[in-house]
Amino acid sequence: MAALTINKVVSAARETFKTILSDKTVLMEHLQKLKICCNEIKASDLNITAGVTQELFSSSSRPADRKPPVSYMHLYEDEGVSMGVFFLRGGSRIPLHNHPNMYGLCKVLYGTINVQSFSPIVKDNNLDIPEFNEFQQQEGRPTTPRELLTPTKHYVTDNVTSDSDVCLLLPDVGNCHELKAVDGPAAFVDILAPPYAPDEGRDCMYYKLLTAKKGGDIKWLLEIPPPAEFWTDEIPYTGPEIK
Ligand SMILES: [Fe+2]
Repeated sequence: MAALTINKVVSAARETFKTILSDKTVLMEHLQKLKICCNEIKASDLNITAGVTQELFSSSSRPADRKPPVSYMHLYEDEGVSMGVFFLRGGSRIPLHNHPNMYGLCKVLYGTINVQSFSPIVKDNNLDIPEFNEFQQQEGRPTTPRELLTPTKHYVTDNVTSDSDVCLLLPDVGNCHELKAVDGPAAFVDILAPPYAPDEGRDCMYYKLLTAKKGGDIKWLLEIPPPAEFWTDEIPYTGPEIK
């Protein structure tokens, strides 16, 4: 049964993205069907047991200060879609990042994940860059290079559990997000299409949310280097064979 579920999801994801990446007119209809399919995934379908996280994060073979805040389990990848599971230590986070020109689905397997996401908006040259609390101003001009700033609209902040619907992101909706494990460890399945590919303009960028001195609808994200406190290791998949 478990093998059936994970292979059904992989097959649905493969077919969905093969279709919608070539025909955007059926996009939402197909994504909704894939969401319904993904909502069925449970940790047990991937042979992820209650003890896995405890084992993962309490291994005595690693010095405490070298334990990664997040671990990744690769499930599947082809040229159209990638799938894996992120395991977050309690209180840890996947910092604010984007998925340029990509679609994504996140299904929580266990724990509670606080998701904060933003939708990028067109960077019109007429957009006034406000003054930010984080920066000193020089002669009233922002010191932040315009090219490092991305204007967005707040999309959602929500606590998501295994009972919640799949979170969906589109190229222009909820595309930048931060995920934080609250109330203990958590894990979620991540499906991305097409996969990250820096050579094809799909590199993962990290951001800091800036606070404007005067409030407004536009939330400005500052591109930053990958945060030093965030790194991952990879753990093997031990669930049913994925075909
Ligand atoms: Fe993400």
